[in-house]
Amino acid sequence: MEKKNFDWANLGFGYHETEKRYVSNYKNGAWDEGALISDSQIVMSECAGVLQYAQTIFEGLKAYTTEDGHIVTFRPDLNAERLIDSCERLEMPAFPKERFLDAVTKVVAANEAYVPPYGSGATLYIRPYMFGISPVIGVKPAEEYQFRIFCTPVGPYFKGGIHPLTIKISDFDRAAPNGTGHIKAGLNYAMSLHAIVTAHKEGFDENMYLDSATKTKVEETGGANFIFITKDNKVVTPKSPTILPSITRRSLVTVAKEYLGLEVEEREVYKEELKDFAECGLCGTAAVLSPVGKIVDHGEEICFPSGMTQMGPITKKLYETLTGIQMGHRKAPEGWIHVIQ
Ligand code: PLP
Ligand code: COI
Repeated sequence: MEKKNFDWANLGFGYHETEKRYVSNYKNGAWDEGALISDSQIVMSECAGVLQYAQTIFEGLKAYTTEDGHIVTFRPDLNAERLIDSCERLEMPAFPKERFLDAVTKVVAANEAYVPPYGSGATLYIRPYMFGISPVIGVKPAEEYQFRIFCTPVGPYFKGGIHPLTIKISDFDRAAPNGTGHIKAGLNYAMSLHAIVTAHKEGFDENMYLDSATKTKVEETGGANFIFITKDNKVVTPKSPTILPSITRRSLVTVAKEYLGLEVEEREVYKEELKDFAECGLCGTAAVLSPVGKIVDHGEEICFPSGMTQMGPITKKLYETLTGIQMGHRKAPEGWIHVIQ
């Protein structure tokens, strides 16, 4: 199989249409058998639930070419489970876990030519999503749904690749107590758009959101969880019922404890503590583990000792171990790597 002719090393985090995508329709209370299709366009009612009341959820995971030439995905079972949690919260029908895994495998295998080669710095981003497709005018869940998966080759999420980011503490809220911050609903991202556009205009790479109830605790960014490193090399990561349970963060906790022998604290993290940390990073499928060099709190700068030129030493070890597992040059914990071919 010949690879497509992309400039892999210079890909940004963008959409490139590939040949195949997976689609399954939910009608009369059941999912159909699903299929790979070539048409990237979707035709739906002007009154579809997704268009009127934003009934849509999604997932994100990546396929990697390993050092020995296999194509693999990383912990797709956890994406399948999180999608089911999102379905429940938005009154959508669950897409069964085994079917999710089978669909991911099929889409990646069918788009093998778009999976970036080992060592290219790029990966194949896989986007499963589901939305209400039947007409809805009174506020209620749709009766019919579509589940789809497309994929696109991507480079680093942040412009310029991996380099220390500058972020601001946002006055906007990302998630409400008892709201939808813990699931991957499109609506969480729609409401963050004004905040991210504002942050970019002001020269920041991202926003740090605080808990909206007290504005004292660190939550996450628009698309990644936080990890912090203390001056005595402990890993600290915020615990909150209103942040997305990042698969990357959960994996880094295991990497820190079991591969690097580090102590890990998963707990509430107060804004007041930020100045005491030695390193900070953003973790997620798209972000991988991106270092943060500076946080600006209404003009007051919090500069981490790791600086603005490189990743801090512990962040670097975490990054190298995690990506080593994903790319196949470190042994993975049982069940983490799903071999496509
Ligand atoms: N937080 C938010 C709001 C996200 O959108 C994402 C991306 O999926 C993450 C965190 C990271 O989660 P994961 O590591 O599962 O990709
Ligand atoms: C991901 O990391 O997969 C996400 O969905 C985050 C998004 C900001 C691209």
